[in-house]
Amino acid sequence: MNKKVKRPVVISFFNNKGGVGKSTLSINLASAFADDYKVLIIDNDPQGNCSELLSQEQDAEIKNAYLGKEINIRKINFNALLESLELRKRTKKDLSIITGGMALLDVETILKDKPAGETVLARNLKETIKDFDFVFIDNPPSLSIFVWNALCLSNHIIIPFKPGRSEFTGITNLLKIAATVRTELKHNINILGILTNMFTDTSVSSMYVADLEKSLDSNMMFENGVKATVKLMQAATFGLPVDLLFPEKEEAVVAMQDIKKEIIKKLEDEK
Ligand SMILES: Nc1ncnc2c1ncn2[C@@H]1O[C@H](COP(=O)(O)OP(=O)(O)OP(=O)(O)O)[C@@H](O)[C@H]1O
Ligand SMILES: [Mg+2]
Repeated sequence: MNKKVKRPVVISFFNNKGGVGKSTLSINLASAFADDYKVLIIDNDPQGNCSELLSQEQDAEIKNAYLGKEINIRKINFNALLESLELRKRTKKDLSIITGGMALLDVETILKDKPAGETVLARNLKETIKDFDFVFIDNPPSLSIFVWNALCLSNHIIIPFKPGRSEFTGITNLLKIAATVRTELKHNINILGILTNMFTDTSVSSMYVADLEKSLDSNMMFENGVKATVKLMQAATFGLPVDLLFPEKEEAVVAMQDIKKEIIKKLEDEK
């Protein structure tokens, strides 16, 4: 990545539709980036799915970030995990996590009543994240105070999109949300792209993708996407990113690498 790209690059994965692959894409892309960069994943979701997908306790360390307390950023020891699963692979990935979980719900009311409650996370984590090249934030599916906080800390949004009926309105709303962050919260955020996930080789799937492409700027959609594949579900069951469980030529692993390259290119091409 060229030196002009300002680090850390902070990317929020968000779509107010549930089950489109926000958590799956954020951990697997974070893992792909962690081969070459120092990466932090923030599990900003009371569901704690990212933490679970990476075999971490869902102890909501993120709560301390909201409360302005000291936080424990955990570097993931993948080699210990691989060993415990009796897998022979070893890795040098540099991936750390701020865990999510149910306890995050405790801070919801406190935040809502606070003046500038949307910018707490940005203020409290600004210094901490400077140690990283990339920060990926996984978000809950509905637009809550947690999401506003994530957006105020992020420079970019990736919108995972699962081809299907009635997706278009949701995406139009997301474009408005980004505009609100810029105008009302005075924070510059950009939509890096809409990333198609769980597509199939059926004509129905391509029809939904083509429909969305027609209605948006051409550069808004990622060229690469991720097919629906059982490998990602298997990796989830093991609590490992897909690239640690399967060989590098596996389709889902290749897809994550291609998206990684496309993200870097998009960042480099930005003015
Ligand atoms: N490309 C894929 N192929 C097959 N299954 C997938 C794929 N991507 C995600 N899944 C599965 O779809 C389900 C939903 O994915 P995920 O939890 O990542 O979505 P989400 O948007 O984070 O959901 P939520 O809105 O609840 O946070 C999971 O069971 C996951 O394993
Ligand atoms: Mg999720």
